[in-house]
Amino acid sequence: MKNTFLRKLSLMLAVMMLPFGLVHAAPGYNIELEKVNNNVRDQESLQRGAVLFANYCMACHSVELIRYNRIARDIGWTDEQAIENMAFNQAKAVDYVKTRMEPGVSQDLFGIEAPDLSLLTRVKGNDYIYTFIRGYYEEEEGKWNNKVLTGTSMPNVLEGLKRHASDEAYDQATTDIVNFLDYVGEPSKVQRWDLGWKVILFLLVLLVLTYLLKREYWKDIKH
Ligand code: HEC
Repeated sequence: MKNTFLRKLSLMLAVMMLPFGLVHAAPGYNIELEKVNNNVRDQESLQRGAVLFANYCMACHSVELIRYNRIARDIGWTDEQAIENMAFNQAKAVDYVKTRMEPGVSQDLFGIEAPDLSLLTRVKGNDYIYTFIRGYYEEEEGKWNNKVLTGTSMPNVLEGLKRHASDEAYDQATTDIVNFLDYVGEPSKVQRWDLGWKVILFLLVLLVLTYLLKREYWKDIKH
């Protein structure tokens, strides 16, 4: 009796774990991706990342699924700070975070639209973005290529930062940018984590109680 219950329980848990296995089995990239050690709970890193993103990426890229006031609330800024730090006071707090580039210009300059980056960490993963933005190498004098996206039309925008910053500062800055994009990809991730374990704990307690109740109901019945 007890045994079948345990067997059923372990089967149920195994089925619940299945999706995790499938995610990890997703195909990898040909090259070794650098591991980024970012933390979406670190608000200071997110603030630095937002400023770096505004300065180094928003000339071409948007993250248009999120508004300035949402970012402000989540990363510990006032609305005014978000507008000042990210949009140089050229936007309203309720605006979506849009690139400063006029439509069509990217197509003319680079032959391709610079993609919206709102969900890119979700699609490709943090390590991919980290390795991509750090992955430029000089093929010939003044001509850059990228080891992740060979022949990419995105210029090496962090060249100056890399040249002028120390290795630690460069590592930190690129980690902060990816951290910010990780946050934008799922703004409620921290709340989800914090709520998740409480829900699981509640369900486990409920499981024990329902099991005890079931035993109580069945104890006088022959079966
Ligand atoms: C001067 C314009 C410009 C700037 C500035 C710029 N990008 Fe891009 N980016 C592009 C273009 C154009 C593409 C499309 C490249 C391609 O598909 O070859 C792109 C593509 C990307 C991609 C997608 C790569 C892929 O695998 O499809 C990521 C991620 C990205 N950029 C991140 C960034 C980040 C982070 C910054 C700031 C540090 C930044 N970009 C700054 C123009 C820019």
